[in-house]
Amino acid sequence: MLQRRQLFQFAGVATVAAAGGAAWMYYGLPRSGALAGGPFRHYPFDPVAAENFQQKLFIPVGSGPFGVLDVAGPLKIRTTAASFPLLPGRESPFLLYQTEQAGKAYQNPILRIESGARFTASLDNALEEPTIIHWHGLHTPAAMDGHPASTIGPGGRYAYDFKVSNRGGTYWYHTHAHELTAEQAYHGLASFFLVDDDDQRRLSKSLDLQLGVTDLPLVIQDKQFDAQGKLLYKPDAHEAMMGWLGDIVLANLTPNAVQAVTPRTYRLRLLNGSNARIYRLAFVKGKTTLDFTVIGTDGGLIERPETVSEAFLAPGERLDVLFDAGQAQPGEDIFLRSLAFDAMENEGPAGGMGGMGGMGMGRMMASMSSSRLPLGAEFNVLKLSVTAGERVVAKLPATLSQVKPIPTTGAAQRKIELSMGQMRFLINGRTFRMDEIAFDVKRGAVEIWNISNPTLGMPHPMHIHGFSFQVLERIGSPPQVAATARFGQGRTVSDLGWKDTVLVWPGETVRVAIDFAHDYPGDQIYVFHCHNLEHEDGGMMINFRVQA
Ligand code: C2O
Ligand code: CU
Ligand code: CU
Repeated sequence: MLQRRQLFQFAGVATVAAAGGAAWMYYGLPRSGALAGGPFRHYPFDPVAAENFQQKLFIPVGSGPFGVLDVAGPLKIRTTAASFPLLPGRESPFLLYQTEQAGKAYQNPILRIESGARFTASLDNALEEPTIIHWHGLHTPAAMDGHPASTIGPGGRYAYDFKVSNRGGTYWYHTHAHELTAEQAYHGLASFFLVDDDDQRRLSKSLDLQLGVTDLPLVIQDKQFDAQGKLLYKPDAHEAMMGWLGDIVLANLTPNAVQAVTPRTYRLRLLNGSNARIYRLAFVKGKTTLDFTVIGTDGGLIERPETVSEAFLAPGERLDVLFDAGQAQPGEDIFLRSLAFDAMENEGPAGGMGGMGGMGMGRMMASMSSSRLPLGAEFNVLKLSVTAGERVVAKLPATLSQVKPIPTTGAAQRKIELSMGQMRFLINGRTFRMDEIAFDVKRGAVEIWNISNPTLGMPHPMHIHGFSFQVLERIGSPPQVAATARFGQGRTVSDLGWKDTVLVWPGETVRVAIDFAHDYPGDQIYVFHCHNLEHEDGGMMINFRVQA
């Protein structure tokens, strides 16, 4: 097992990864003629090249890496530096949450627990740097939330004990180490936190879904690797500002993943666990885009199944979808793909640097990224290869769950303005300061936050701790978003139900309703931040206090 010291060594290794052409020779992979003779940007594991998709998708099983752990008592979780074979035959330094239950060892377990149950865990930091766990999407007292101020040093311990009051849904947990979140999450410190309830069980039963077989948690991440096949993370000033993009796309840590499916309905619990990449997801067969059905978003099931042909998924967001693999014949392939879109970084931060001669800073920065896969490029995420099997046509329930609208009459309106300055992104003109509270809200109050992003910016996935919200309205959406806004008030399918993260595009104002009711004694301090993790670490985050 690698020591943390060794883990840091690779950051200094000179790499040819960015040079594209040279890097693939190190891997010695069998390559098709088309790929070998392909254009410059073709490289091993290039997710654009469909023929690359040959690695069996990693699917969580009973224990081990990403094993499903049905929480049945207090857990001891240890954060450790380890290694993990991300690319076939190549070990990469990796950070893992290790734990055990009933004699079984788990790494980065998919934690599963019943709504209303108590969750008790200790975190031991065996890294040589500070860390802390945040339970993304869960409603907990501030002290249990993994606020960056809770960060513990090497050798430190943090005790968690809270009631899982959230409804059933696909939540997740990840590091929130102050100013180290991006690097640590990128190196592995993240996994799912599934909450079960009656609605979830009813759905699983009526569609005959089985976790790990026909109900697949799928975390999508993009990474860069060096010539030795080790994770590469070294954003320069520009990349720290725009966000670190990978050029190898992992589904459940599998590059170029393929999964065999039979002609029936699958549930995919999609999580964008990337640092900065936004995906425009669609299922594609040949040149045809196939329908899929959204059944849930960040905070569990939406009211009714909604059939769509594409959806944006920003860092931190979840989308729970049903996909009928019977839309293709046995022998055919379907790709879960990220379609091309306008990254809208074209007029990035001016930062006092005028006179770019028509080339926006952002576009210039994007072109300077070390990733071979620019934001907005089209590429594949996962191949579903349809095999023979019984055709099962699922009857979708007309109603999935109840989502009571937050009553907003008389709610206070709050302006949340995203902006830029001093080569960084700001919230209400501020950069994060640990000891500064941006504003107070009253416990039990309902507020409407009008989150606006200037036209000269880039998209920001904005995330709240401690509470969920409902998206009321999208105003001023760019055409690529407006085109899919079929759900009233400019909302897209990703805006339905209970949310904790919402993507705000340049030029948009997204209005969300938040109910600040909670059961905890005293004042509670949470953060609101951009889930582009480089932005978060760069200070695109504020504290807000819920006053008792
Ligand atoms: Cu998933 Cu504060 O974030
Ligand atoms: Cu969170
Ligand atoms: Cu951002």
